[in-house]
Amino acid sequence: MTTASANSPTAAESGGAATRAFREQGAVWKGAGTSAARVDSFARDVLGRIHDAIREHGMTYAEYAAVKQWLIDVGEAGEWPLFLDVFIEHVVEETANAGLSGSKGTILGPYYLPGQRPLPARCALPMRENEKGEPLVFSGQVRSVSGDPLAGAVLDMWQADDDGYYSGFAPGIPDGNLRGVVTADEAGRFEIRTIRPAPYEIPKDGPTGQLIAVAGWHAWRPAHLHLQVGAPGCRALITQLYFHGGQWLDSDVAQATKPELILRPQAGPDGVLKADYDFVLDPV
Ligand code: DHB
Ligand code: FE
Repeated sequence: MTTASANSPTAAESGGAATRAFREQGAVWKGAGTSAARVDSFARDVLGRIHDAIREHGMTYAEYAAVKQWLIDVGEAGEWPLFLDVFIEHVVEETANAGLSGSKGTILGPYYLPGQRPLPARCALPMRENEKGEPLVFSGQVRSVSGDPLAGAVLDMWQADDDGYYSGFAPGIPDGNLRGVVTADEAGRFEIRTIRPAPYEIPKDGPTGQLIAVAGWHAWRPAHLHLQVGAPGCRALITQLYFHGGQWLDSDVAQATKPELILRPQAGPDGVLKADYDFVLDPV
């Protein structure tokens, strides 16, 4: 894994692309249907907790000005999707998905792109001819909570490359690289050839990176595969899968790991790494 190269995305590139991608999905996200009373109580609660933090920490005027400038910078850099999905989304996911009994979900993150290449149940993700990284065969089955195989389930998958970069967000990677929409077979089974992704580091040259550096945190997420798994009559599952023993598993900056989401890839008879994972979908 390299840490920096000509391909390193700047925060402004990743942030700008993530903001555009989110806007384009506006149709999906519009219309939360939240009542005025709920907005009133939630907004008052959030503001009240900020007021309390200011009192408890004795914030100065210089600090208030620094925060104001930082908030302006996050917006101008297009980094709200990065910042929010790293520091906030995990609690929304935990809250929204509480009480479900299917496979665990986790955060979507800012790098999902719809409309990727359709692929059959046994396939390889689109990749460059000389794609770096350890080959990985990811296979499994999609079932309902009652144990029935879900014929024709769809797995929309995306991941970083061996440098920890995502196509569509970092320069120099072909569109659609390491992204695909896989339709499982009649038994809900799939087998996807890909490469093992590298850990992902939040770009450090923008305001989110500045906060992380000033606070003395690290900016890393453990290596992960992203998946949205769906089937008719089932609730779509948004999840990520991590790798046993991987770096940053215990200190994910996005706090989005769960013990149920860890793959234990093993070399097959042909020496190629294989990881098996079954998805269980809740009913709608
Ligand atoms: C972020 C990036 C990711 O790849 C991810 O899975 C979650 C969050 C981010 O930069 O916000
Ligand atoms: Fe990611």
